Amino acid sequence: MEYQKKHKISVYLTEEQIRQRTAEIGKSITDKFQGESVYLICVLKGAVFFAAELAKQIELPMTLDFMSVSSYGSATKSSGKPCIRKDLDCPVEGENLIVVEDILDSGHTLSCLLALLRERNPKTLTVCTLLDKPDRREVTDITVDYTGFVVPDKFIVGYGLDFDQRYRNLPYIGFLEDADENKGELH
Ligand code: IMP
Ligand code: MG
Repeated sequence: MEYQKKHKISVYLTEEQIRQRTAEIGKSITDKFQGESVYLICVLKGAVFFAAELAKQIELPMTLDFMSVSSYGSATKSSGKPCIRKDLDCPVEGENLIVVEDILDSGHTLSCLLALLRERNPKTLTVCTLLDKPDRREVTDITVDYTGFVVPDKFIVGYGLDFDQRYRNLPYIGFLEDADENKGELH
């Protein structure tokens, strides 16, 4: 039985659909890096469920680490200053980095993160996002290697994605109806 929610949330992708697609991506990554090791970077907090599932589907020697960054719009890019809330535990020079994101929206967060990681001289830098919302893109020069699902321009919650820090624990991905009207009524 599902718990009572404050908002209307319509299911868009079931847990099974997400799991199947994640397995496909895991297989592609396994094939691509055959004979090597990978360093998976889970971008907190939204990617935590996806990264956990993906990690299990990659059959290679792996290091798993976490990073938390915030983007401050285009100002971030011009200043060139990274915005790290939590950094990786170890240096990553010479590693096959795989950045795991929940959703690519405007692109500012990922753009900031990739610039930062490139400076650390990894062997390769691969980007993997569960969702892509291309209609809202502002930074256009981001190359994504693996995308789970392309989604329409709606507010999405569940499977790690939040609305005001809630709904990350939903096992599916859904659209939050009337997101703007309900802001601030969660507590
Ligand atoms: P960007 O910097 O605009 O690409 O935004 C990326 C971040 O914004 C994601 O990692 C999410 O944490 C958050 N985000 C963007 N769109 C949504 C959404 O529809 N639902 C929940 N969080 C979102
Ligand atoms: Mg978020």
